[in-house]
Amino acid sequence: MSTDFRTAPLDATSAERLAAAGLRYALVDTADRDAFSAWLQADMRGFHVARLNDELLEKNLEGLAYRRTTGVFDDALIDPVTPVGTVNSWIGEVTVPGSRTVPGWAISSVTVAPTHRRKGVARNLLEGELRTASALGVPLAMLTVSESSIYGRYGFATAAMAAEWRIDTKRAKWTGPTPGGRLQFIPQEEFRALVPGLFDRVRLSVPGEVPLWDLRWDQIAGLAWEDKGSAAKLRAVRYDDEKGKLQGLALYLVKGGDDDFTKHTLEVHHLTAATPDAYAALWRFLLEVDLVSEVKAYLRSVDEPVRWMISDMRAIRFTPSDHQYLRILDVKGALEARSYASSAMIALVVTDELGFAQGRFLLEIDGKGVGEVRPMQSVAPRGSAALALTVNELSAIYLGGVPVATLVGAGRIKELRSGSAAVVDGAFRSPRTPSLSSWY
Ligand SMILES: CC(C)(COP(=O)(O)OP(=O)(O)OC[C@H]1O[C@@H](n2cnc3c(N)ncnc32)[C@H](O)[C@@H]1OP(=O)(O)O)[C@@H](O)C(=O)NCCC(=O)NCCS
Repeated sequence: MSTDFRTAPLDATSAERLAAAGLRYALVDTADRDAFSAWLQADMRGFHVARLNDELLEKNLEGLAYRRTTGVFDDALIDPVTPVGTVNSWIGEVTVPGSRTVPGWAISSVTVAPTHRRKGVARNLLEGELRTASALGVPLAMLTVSESSIYGRYGFATAAMAAEWRIDTKRAKWTGPTPGGRLQFIPQEEFRALVPGLFDRVRLSVPGEVPLWDLRWDQIAGLAWEDKGSAAKLRAVRYDDEKGKLQGLALYLVKGGDDDFTKHTLEVHHLTAATPDAYAALWRFLLEVDLVSEVKAYLRSVDEPVRWMISDMRAIRFTPSDHQYLRILDVKGALEARSYASSAMIALVVTDELGFAQGRFLLEIDGKGVGEVRPMQSVAPRGSAALALTVNELSAIYLGGVPVATLVGAGRIKELRSGSAAVVDGAFRSPRTPSLSSWY
């Protein structure tokens, strides 16, 4: 697999189609300050957020320069330098069952100027990214979405959910363990220095997680916020175990309390715990901060153990949402990259409108959970489980977080032999619920 993703040629099909609509498809040189600045400001406009000020522009010019950066330009405009369509991408990785990772073509910053919407610009950008990733041998593409209705048509589906948790702290008395390590406040800068290393220890055990980049850590730590007043309210805490080893970090912000000073809201902006003790210590701390009536945590797993660590589960309001979207491009590469929970022989008849994953495949999983994929003849071998599905469903079940039985129930996967869903679920299930704790 090539890692020369920044300079790989632009997709000729998308270039031709955009040219036919009078538009120019081009890679943006991120070392060209004016061109890259215009691209970054177009991206901000696309998401309806403030133009980058001088300080943040500098940070973005430096922090995102490593990505493959593509624009669509309308040379007939008074300002032909600012793109009317943007996308960037890089070869990242996503954790899969078995504490392993698989390379993924990460796609971000998909925007189209409102002046040029619904002319197929986004379609050409997305299809162009998929064809480029496939040509470079990357087994899957991945993204997080602002609108969930857009990406199914390109073969994406959500493979890991995330949830917002709101906990009424007056109702939720702590019933979990009380670890013996030490909690202490640290400066935001120390949190920023420590969190990538701790997170990297943890993410390899959570299917769906992806590594983050330096600028994203600066943003999480509040070191790249436009609103400096809010950033100054962030508080960072570390947890060290009884031997003095760092095992957990949390970052939070307390707001509200205007009408009643005893009823602030504590927003958990980040929480990474490498051990169950660190998890318990940090959650207990957050739930017991005085003058707070509600703790809100975003982008948490749908299966947080904290639900079982408080006296009253109904103190929780819980909003799950689709979050980590995957799109398998190479069925063999993707399925052989993860491990499986049981041995099985599984026939998969996959349809893919864009062609990448189309075909009939036989996945044979041995007693050690290692899978091998071969092309399958027309009939599924005797004794195999057999499913017919589109690439969307294959991408959804890939991490083991979406049961096949659910998608059979939804009429989205067809069992070609009865009982197949149970066999595939037994093999695909992940010991840890897939999750993704960031936007990218
Ligand atoms: C979403 C966005 C990129 C679409 O761009 P566009 O160039 O107008 O889209 P296209 O003309 O290529 O349309 C592609 C397909 O997506 C559909 N589509 C586009 N925007 C959609 C939306 N907001 N919701 C649902 N479907 C949408 C189109 O109907 C079309 O479907 P079809 O090909 O099956 O007929 C653009 O509206 C935008 O920049 N929005 C704000 C930023 C954003 O939300 N980006 C997505 C980041 S996750």
